[in-house]
Amino acid sequence: MRIDRRGFAKSLSVAAGVMAAGRWTTVATLPVAAQTAALKDLVPKGWLIGVALNQRQSDGTDTVAVELVTRQFNSITPENLLKFESVQRQPGAFTFEPQDRYVAFGADRGMAVIGHTLVWHSQTPAWVWAGAGGGPADRATLLERMQTHIATVVGRYKGRIRGWDVVNEALNDDGTLRDSPWRRGIGDDYIAKAFEFARQADPGAELYYNDFNLATRPAKRAGAIRIIRDLQQRGLRIDAVGEQGHWRLESPTTTEIDQTITELRATGLKVMITELDVNLLPAVERLAAGQAPSPASNPFVNGLPDDVQQALARRYADAFGVFLRHRDDITRVTFWGVSDGDSWLNRGRVNHPLLWDRQRQPKPAFDEVTRVLAGKTTSSR
Ligand code: G3I
Repeated sequence: MRIDRRGFAKSLSVAAGVMAAGRWTTVATLPVAAQTAALKDLVPKGWLIGVALNQRQSDGTDTVAVELVTRQFNSITPENLLKFESVQRQPGAFTFEPQDRYVAFGADRGMAVIGHTLVWHSQTPAWVWAGAGGGPADRATLLERMQTHIATVVGRYKGRIRGWDVVNEALNDDGTLRDSPWRRGIGDDYIAKAFEFARQADPGAELYYNDFNLATRPAKRAGAIRIIRDLQQRGLRIDAVGEQGHWRLESPTTTEIDQTITELRATGLKVMITELDVNLLPAVERLAAGQAPSPASNPFVNGLPDDVQQALARRYADAFGVFLRHRDDITRVTFWGVSDGDSWLNRGRVNHPLLWDRQRQPKPAFDEVTRVLAGKTTSSR
């Protein structure tokens, strides 16, 4: 008997559920293995459907998440493990134990293993920018540090990592180059040098440029296209461009997403949605350590009201509807976290941005995405 999740949960939760204001808080949990539909079996042929893993998951400690990831996805990205500060916290002192386990996690499951990220202004140790005599490092020094880092990290996983986010978030929202320490020390060609070094380290690896707000900021999208064109004119390898996809219920619109994929694809590159989640919480100033969020800024502590749950389901269905219309333009869609409790979007509050809830139960959004992928329903817009 195929378990209909909702029927099963409902039968149990009537006994144990709490009904308030049309909101259900189900207590029944369905073993991951019993969750019948698997995204990786439903996506168009050749697509990667992935998820960002934290260390507890790639180490295999979070066994429920490991089972879910293994069942649902054919690609993984490290949420933090392959960032500069995680791999080379001190000059020349490389750490690879948890990183090796991350790569093995994917290899053992026949997954496409992604590397995130080599050159970024954030999560890069201060020693990288420091020059002799206390001033900033000069061009030659920074280039040497960038090349050594890329050669060591990309070289170690040669042939085992499918592709790398070589440069991450090099743009301001107006499309100009961000005032990154890499740019200050090396110059505007730091991006080209990073792609050159990555190609040298693993000629077989796919190389990506990755950024956010490309779908909501046309000027930024134009900036990304300028970066791509510059690399292409220099004869440097770049295989795809990533829109991170840290979206909201209403922004970007499906028209903006459609337009973005069309414009980025026109460069000849494939397009990826690399860090998908839907933030449901109101924008607030970053909470100070220990500062409690105001109730108004944290409205879903006890779970999502049904109307928001359904709005989230429609949002994901609409997004995947657009992705399917561009099935030949897109190569990968990756969620930025396994389940709501794992999401970076909590940050002292209680957010619900993903397809699985804190009990690792599939949410209506999961059902809607599987229905859209299975062609059983079209998006509402
Ligand atoms: O590892 C330390 C740990 O030792 C310490 O006890 C703990 C307490 O502060 O912090 C831990 O470091 C945290 C790290 O995640 C690992 O968990 C950092 O504080 C925290 O800032 C860092 O957050 C990551 C964030 O990037 C940093 O910018 C998020 O997990 C990660 O989801 C997020 O991912 C980025 C992508 O790489 C690029 N695009 C945007 C996306 C969201 O910001």
